[in-house]
Amino acid sequence: MNLPCDMLVFGGTGDLALHKLLPALYQLHREARLPRTMRIIGISRKLLPRARYIELAERHCRAQIEKKDFSDAVWLSFSERLDYLPMDAAQAADFSKLAERVKCSPQQGCIYYLATAPNLFESIASNLAVNGLAGPNTRIVIEKPIGHSLESALAINAAIGAAFHEEQVFRIDHYLGKETVQNLMALRFANALFEPVWRAAHIDHVQITVNETIGVENRGAYYDQAGAMRDMLQNHLLQLLCLVAMEAPVRFDADSVRNEKVKILQALKPISGLDVQDKTVRGQYTAGHVGGHNAPAYYFEKDVDNDSDTETFVAIEAEVDNWRWAGVPFYLRTGKRLAKKTSEIVMQFKPVPHSLFSDSQANHLLIRLQPEERISLELMAKTPGKGMHLEPIELDINLAKAFQDSRRWEAYERLLLDVIENDSTLFMRRDEVEAAWQWVDPILKGWQQHYQRPRPYPSGSTGPEQAHSLLEKHNRAWHE
Ligand code: BG6
Repeated sequence: MNLPCDMLVFGGTGDLALHKLLPALYQLHREARLPRTMRIIGISRKLLPRARYIELAERHCRAQIEKKDFSDAVWLSFSERLDYLPMDAAQAADFSKLAERVKCSPQQGCIYYLATAPNLFESIASNLAVNGLAGPNTRIVIEKPIGHSLESALAINAAIGAAFHEEQVFRIDHYLGKETVQNLMALRFANALFEPVWRAAHIDHVQITVNETIGVENRGAYYDQAGAMRDMLQNHLLQLLCLVAMEAPVRFDADSVRNEKVKILQALKPISGLDVQDKTVRGQYTAGHVGGHNAPAYYFEKDVDNDSDTETFVAIEAEVDNWRWAGVPFYLRTGKRLAKKTSEIVMQFKPVPHSLFSDSQANHLLIRLQPEERISLELMAKTPGKGMHLEPIELDINLAKAFQDSRRWEAYERLLLDVIENDSTLFMRRDEVEAAWQWVDPILKGWQQHYQRPRPYPSGSTGPEQAHSLLEKHNRAWHE
């Protein structure tokens, strides 16, 4: 189905809509990629006239979009697509207002983007269905986190599934929209070079790191209920793990790719009981300095409980129990208010079987998503001059430079266009989300049963000491 369609954004005045979705839609409009007649309707409880909504949207788009890409003329034409509907998505009665505004028909599709708190997903989906707004020409987009546990995720998926068929549901994980994440698939499946060594016989371990310098900003109320495990690890990091570990899909289409990803989630070795203490670390930032600024302790952040024991950092030693990966640790870590913003994957190779040189080190392949998009392979080379002294050197590909004539798309631009074009390859299927929770749930329960406060780490550091010990006890170290 690639019909003309409208997009209705629930949570239309929220951070996600204003900071990410509208700027991404503006860019797509600027490049003439949106369906010609598509309207974008912001929905929220605020009583705003359309003109005020457009002003609000313009302020945020101007702030988010690079100056060279923003022009008054393009904004004017984009703003003609914008509309606003004040309604309370928690009130069933308000959906009749929506029904009057929406013009879904066999010739006109509708995309509902739920940029709201997840506790509204179930009621919005069923109210759309009850009001006849969930027909075959509609799609629904939901944001992570989908639930806060396996049980709640099952309930959300069931409620959405009762109103929409699975092909109509797009579960967004914006990490899958990042260029380097997609490049990981190109690297693995378009180059014969890596496949023979991409397995336990040659890989010592894998590291997946998503470190941030920011704190919880103005999302304290949400974050204090979620923590790093639900906010980042259950989704973004596990998705990266899937792409690193999965087998080659038979085709590059939605079902083939997602069939392979879900097998990896199902192969994750459960971590429960006392293993939770051995294989996981929770941390929480205390006061410190990040990027030359003073940063407060987490529990002094706005809307955060002043005795909060929510983790702002998590590190896990995971294992994928299948033929390719048995015995290879996958170290995952993510945290806020750390020294540097970096998202990267490190494939650490085993050392050579018999070393001729005393200073030889094992190779590693670094796939960096942020801040720069880079793939680099560290190899050993002889230094010039007499003697056989070795040093690591890098075969380095800077993806932004390699493709410098092309504009770098924001993850949401790519993903929104995929929704419009009805391509769900880069979206999480129902069974993937559930399999991810299935693995995460026992860890969350283990943390409750063997309660320990999260390990403190100063803002601006590399995380709690215990996260380093997780690797050091096996003579390994995080790539810094
Ligand atoms: C979001 C999380 O999904 O991802 C945020 O809710 C986090 O807490 C953000 O800051 C990180 O995304 P990115 O693209 O900046 O790495």
